[in-house]
Amino acid sequence: MSEQKTYTVVIVGATGLVGQGMIQVLEDRGFPVGELRLAASERSMGKSLTFRNEPVELQLLNEAVFQNADIALFAVDAPVSAEWVPVAARHCGVVIDNSSHFRMNEDVPLVVPEVNPNDIFDYKTNIIANPNCSTIQMVAALKPIWDTYGLQRIIVSTYQAASGAGQPGVDHLRAELRGENPDTPAFPHSLLANPIPHISSFNNDGLSKEELKMIHETRKIFHDDSILVSPTCVRVPIMNCHAESIVIETAEPYELGDVRSLLSDAPNIVVIDDVENAQYPLPSEADGKDEVFVGRLRRDAVFPNGLAMWVVADNVRKGAATNAVQIAEQWVQRKHTEIPTGK
Ligand SMILES: NC(=O)c1ccc[n+]([C@@H]2O[C@H](COP(=O)([O-])OP(=O)(O)OC[C@H]3O[C@@H](n4cnc5c(N)ncnc54)[C@H](OP(=O)(O)O)[C@@H]3O)[C@@H](O)[C@H]2O)c1
Repeated sequence: MSEQKTYTVVIVGATGLVGQGMIQVLEDRGFPVGELRLAASERSMGKSLTFRNEPVELQLLNEAVFQNADIALFAVDAPVSAEWVPVAARHCGVVIDNSSHFRMNEDVPLVVPEVNPNDIFDYKTNIIANPNCSTIQMVAALKPIWDTYGLQRIIVSTYQAASGAGQPGVDHLRAELRGENPDTPAFPHSLLANPIPHISSFNNDGLSKEELKMIHETRKIFHDDSILVSPTCVRVPIMNCHAESIVIETAEPYELGDVRSLLSDAPNIVVIDDVENAQYPLPSEADGKDEVFVGRLRRDAVFPNGLAMWVVADNVRKGAATNAVQIAEQWVQRKHTEIPTGK
């Protein structure tokens, strides 16, 4: 029997929420890791993290960590990705970036494996961008509907967890829960006391960067610039998992029962929709899971083909780490016979 091929994987930003999520997801999904290299900043030197019950020492982010590696997963902020993703791409077979830096670059595919997996191989680059967490769960839930009925417009309000702002966001909410003021606030107001309709900076039209991402990334992933998207992104005082209230107008008329069946049959979508028994998706239930949870499905009278729903997912897993590892799985599946050691 031939031995399973394994891969040298580098995680950049391994100490952060998404980086640690990636380590866990690689382990949980049995990804064929031969060697795991964990990179972070000067602040993390001397520390180690655990993979498959073994300690792995942190390395300083530099070119040497990518040498003879197959796959690099980036979980750092955009400026660090801007500098280091191209370096990694010179050495690794594929680089998957979680930051916003490359998402709208026309040479770089923006991929949710349940929606546009073929884009992984359709671009002239070995860099692949992971979409924004709010966009991932929304397009994953809408994909079966878009396939069958088409989509005209989307009105979405998000209820985004503190963890969406990384470790500083979690630290902020934890400090407030202890009755303390955060040392370095991650949010512009008390999160414990407020839903805050302000995620990242605003443009001259009054849209936040997070809202703009939902508009542009949705169109790029669906390859349809005509879809109208109206987002309002709100940070709420929960630790993990984003929730979204979504109202859409489909292009073609639909039957609610058919929509329910389509969603129930779709991969990695779980329908929880039994309002009589208080069953609908909840962040506390989605925490730590890889699926996208959909419920409160109902007709919405505001449009002729209006449909409303409630969508919840773990933003650190499906919204970032799991999505990146799923892309790596697809890349490995299709490319494994072609990958030399390193590039
Ligand atoms: N959190 C989410 O739900 C989510 C969802 C989707 C996408 N994302 C994106 O994923 C990326 C990571 O987010 P996160 O939430 O994991 O942030 P985080 O918890 O703040 O972690 C940031 C990571 O970046 C590392 N880092 C910072 N500066 C560095 C440098 N100069 N060189 C090397 N490493 C450096 C940190 O290492 P040290 O510990 O050494 O400082 C840490 O590992 C961001 O682009 C974010 O927008 C996050």
